[in-house]
Amino acid sequence: MCGIVGHLGPSQSVEIVLEGLRRLEYRGYDSAGVTFLNQSGKLETHKKTGKIVNLEKALSSVNTDSMVSIGHTRWATHGGVTDFNSHPHSHEHLSMVHNGIIENADSLRDTLQGKGFSFKSETDSEVFLMLVFSLLEKMPLKEAILKGFSQVEGNSAFVFINEKTREIFAIKRAAPLVCGTHHTKSQAVVSSDPYALIGAADRIYFPGDEVLCHLSPANKDLISFYDSEGNPSENYKSQKQEMEYDPSDKGDFEHYMLKEIYEQPGLVRSLCQFYFDGDGKKFLEKVSSLRPNRFHISACGTAFYAGLLVRDFIEGINRIPCVYELGSEFRYRNPILKEGDVGLFISQSGETADTLASQGECKSSSIQTVSLVNVEGSSLYRECDYNLLIRAGVEIGVASTKAFTQMGLTGRLLAHALGEHYGDAHHEKKLIDKFSLLAERIDEVLANVEDIKKIAEEIYNKKGYFFTGRGIYYPIALEGALKLKEIAYVHAEGYAAGELKHGPIALIDEEMVNIAIVGPELKDKTISNIQEIKARKGIIVGIGPNDNSLKKISDYFLELNFEGLDELSPLYVNVVNQLLSYYMAKFKGTDIDKPRNLAKSVTVE
Ligand code: M6R
Repeated sequence: MCGIVGHLGPSQSVEIVLEGLRRLEYRGYDSAGVTFLNQSGKLETHKKTGKIVNLEKALSSVNTDSMVSIGHTRWATHGGVTDFNSHPHSHEHLSMVHNGIIENADSLRDTLQGKGFSFKSETDSEVFLMLVFSLLEKMPLKEAILKGFSQVEGNSAFVFINEKTREIFAIKRAAPLVCGTHHTKSQAVVSSDPYALIGAADRIYFPGDEVLCHLSPANKDLISFYDSEGNPSENYKSQKQEMEYDPSDKGDFEHYMLKEIYEQPGLVRSLCQFYFDGDGKKFLEKVSSLRPNRFHISACGTAFYAGLLVRDFIEGINRIPCVYELGSEFRYRNPILKEGDVGLFISQSGETADTLASQGECKSSSIQTVSLVNVEGSSLYRECDYNLLIRAGVEIGVASTKAFTQMGLTGRLLAHALGEHYGDAHHEKKLIDKFSLLAERIDEVLANVEDIKKIAEEIYNKKGYFFTGRGIYYPIALEGALKLKEIAYVHAEGYAAGELKHGPIALIDEEMVNIAIVGPELKDKTISNIQEIKARKGIIVGIGPNDNSLKKISDYFLELNFEGLDELSPLYVNVVNQLLSYYMAKFKGTDIDKPRNLAKSVTVE
């Protein structure tokens, strides 16, 4: 989704902003732009649809020497993908970038047009620029931004440059925003993602909602914060920048997605070490004090499917009831949140707007909230009472792979911490062994990737795909279908195997593929369901244990060894699905790491 980077310092402002934008490329966007203060002291804007490289080409013949600039990668919401609609938007001495949605943009635009203001783009974003500009007749810029911000509805982050004073202002409501300073380099920076600021800042600041951040070379601290009344504010969190920038080159891998799939065994092992032998112990200890009557699990996309797996762990192991709801539905269902309930939110980015809204709903009902989250310091991390980091490392591929595995496993650790055997060395050893067995089995899948590739080649051009599973494998069927459709652009659905005969079986013919996940749990019943597809000439890709009847009905068969994995086995099967989707997408020739229309972090509702 939209990415923001701003910088002020002694030099190389545009280079620093472009480098930040490049680091955010993985999040998905359709145009890019930058505004800088040129050598004549004027704001100069360049913006181009398509990849950042188009913008770089446009800048190649331009003198970009500058001490202050802002840049943006846009993921279109209001108005088509055009140079005009790209950000930054500028008017006279102001330039601005925006991330989010202004829900009352139409009425604000009508009012401003009624007062004689005109617009160059179709975006909601430009409405805020002109609103602030209109207020400058009566007040200075700082007050105008605060006043204008109080009039816009919806979740947004805005960053402004003022040509007259060489300063930057930034403000947000329920949208990601982080500022940073580097005193040795005399520079201040701002972004929608701390990842963009690594190296550019040695201290980072997470402002609260409605807090105005003022970055100014005239300020010896380089940054100051104001509340909505314009008074100094302490509503921000500050910490040393500890992330290291790994240019995340793909090494020998053709795509980040594949690299991330291969990272899984190592991550599984190190997760276990972190929570049983490392700094993670204290986090497990903290959640172990929770005594929930019931969990409300909420998340989006892949994280939601991981949530279904976590539900199975918690209900199965702890017998604590779990209700679950998609992040985008949660707050509109008027959920019944009772004292003693606990909200559990799962997210790779920690910035997904709908997941944050679910958390906010729980928080306002005064129930405690727990996150399973990848990005430390993200909005979700900061808002929750308890956090368990999933420790997947930076995930660049838009299609989430390693994060899913780590979410599931961290959920398993949560179930352990809440369980009666928490602290019992014998049980912990058994769990550690199971984690390491999972890592070994994933290694085996990776070593036999050629078998998966061959099947992908046979089936990638078929009419449609049903992923089916039962019991603990049902969430994996849902996740398998999501992965395939997002990267291979084919129609795929995840179904509980027993449900197909209640409707979807009408679609089955010799061009439809059933990717049939079969584990030890409910094996015979699942095989009977596959028979029903086979009888209608569906193509069966059986993924399961060494079983004669399964082999017999499978057109293609991938044998897996479930022995000893028990409740962790869905995560093992899921790696097969990840690879199958990856290779099918590769045969189709799609943009695997940055699939069309998708964004890595979905920060709008
Ligand atoms: O950052 P989050 O985990 O909160 O993101 C949630 C979904 O947007 C994400 O899982 C999405 O479905 C992925 N593209 C799936 O691969």
